Amino acid sequence: MENRQTVALIKGDGIGVDVSNATVRIVNAALEKASAPQLTFEEIKAGATCFAETGRDIAPDGEERAGAADAIFLGAIGLPSIRHEDGTEISPHLRLRDRFGLYAGVRPVKAYPNAPQRLADPRAANIDMVILRESTEGLFYSAAAHGRSQIIGDSEVRDTLRITRTTTEKLHRFAFRLAQKRKAKGAPGCVTCVDKANVFASMAFFRKIFDEIAPEFPDIDRAYAYVDAQALNLIRAPWEADVLVMENMFGDILSDLAGGLVGGMGMAACAEIGDNHGLFQPAHGSAPDIMGQDKANPLAAILSGALMLDYLAEKSNVESFAKAGQWIEHAVDAGFEANSLRPMEFGGDMGTDAVTAQILSLIAADAAPKSA
Ligand code: IPM
Ligand code: MG
Repeated sequence: MENRQTVALIKGDGIGVDVSNATVRIVNAALEKASAPQLTFEEIKAGATCFAETGRDIAPDGEERAGAADAIFLGAIGLPSIRHEDGTEISPHLRLRDRFGLYAGVRPVKAYPNAPQRLADPRAANIDMVILRESTEGLFYSAAAHGRSQIIGDSEVRDTLRITRTTTEKLHRFAFRLAQKRKAKGAPGCVTCVDKANVFASMAFFRKIFDEIAPEFPDIDRAYAYVDAQALNLIRAPWEADVLVMENMFGDILSDLAGGLVGGMGMAACAEIGDNHGLFQPAHGSAPDIMGQDKANPLAAILSGALMLDYLAEKSNVESFAKAGQWIEHAVDAGFEANSLRPMEFGGDMGTDAVTAQILSLIAADAAPKSA
């Protein structure tokens, strides 16, 4: 198997394990359907459970092994009951973003038929946007996991919001290229710079670089929004949004909000891309209250698996990986269309296994994705 690629698999905590297992099954089936080479999954222990058991938040050689793989897949990490002394949760994932320079956090938000529509306006059925969350700096630069906060005894703590030219140029170029790819498939072709440039010098700098990069992409429109107004617009007219590019913390918050618009976090897929590495994870947490109970919606993880296949296709030039990704996306589309995907998260009758089995049978069915 000359093109055999490896995926570092970090199942993590809580439902991270349930949804990772579901994703591996679906990815394997889609690869087979697309006559693509199989992947080798290499499991790496990491997370709060790992920390409680071993005193380390990731296996000793875990970061190196993750870096050596062609892609990293992560379920979910963190348990509220297991914390560091300063009160923060166990987050080796933030170190992986930092170490591998995974600056482009791609968070697609799309409405599916028969999934809950949280807004009464019928146009909410047309929601189809991407929140592009910078994922290595911004306010997360001094996330506790990095030990960069300034702690002044027990009287004051300062966190730093860092914006660098190098990362921001790459981020904005990524945003415009993404808008081009989406435009080719019918999206409006517009990137909105979401910031707080009216108040913070760092955010004015972020916007200045956006304006420097935008002319390289004359076929794509540009727009601006302050983050508070963008929060309003995501409720008022989310169907108008295409690609929204923003700082790390803003993206963390608005991607949950946007996930809520199309059902819930069980639909929130995510790809975190750097120059040489890619990490794929559902944007939801570990939901320990439902772990191991066959209740979690695995679709965010499964759709993240499709994003991973697309990434591997580009990285390795193996077109059949992209076809496998399209099989997964097509199965999710077709399943919602026929109301045969009814996750418990949305009040439906299907647990993790039932949703997974249904996607497997949709992939096995003959109808090919339009683009495959
Ligand atoms: C996310 C999550 C993580 C983050 C947590 C679990 C560290 O909320 O991927 O959005 O804050 O980035
Ligand atoms: Mg989050």
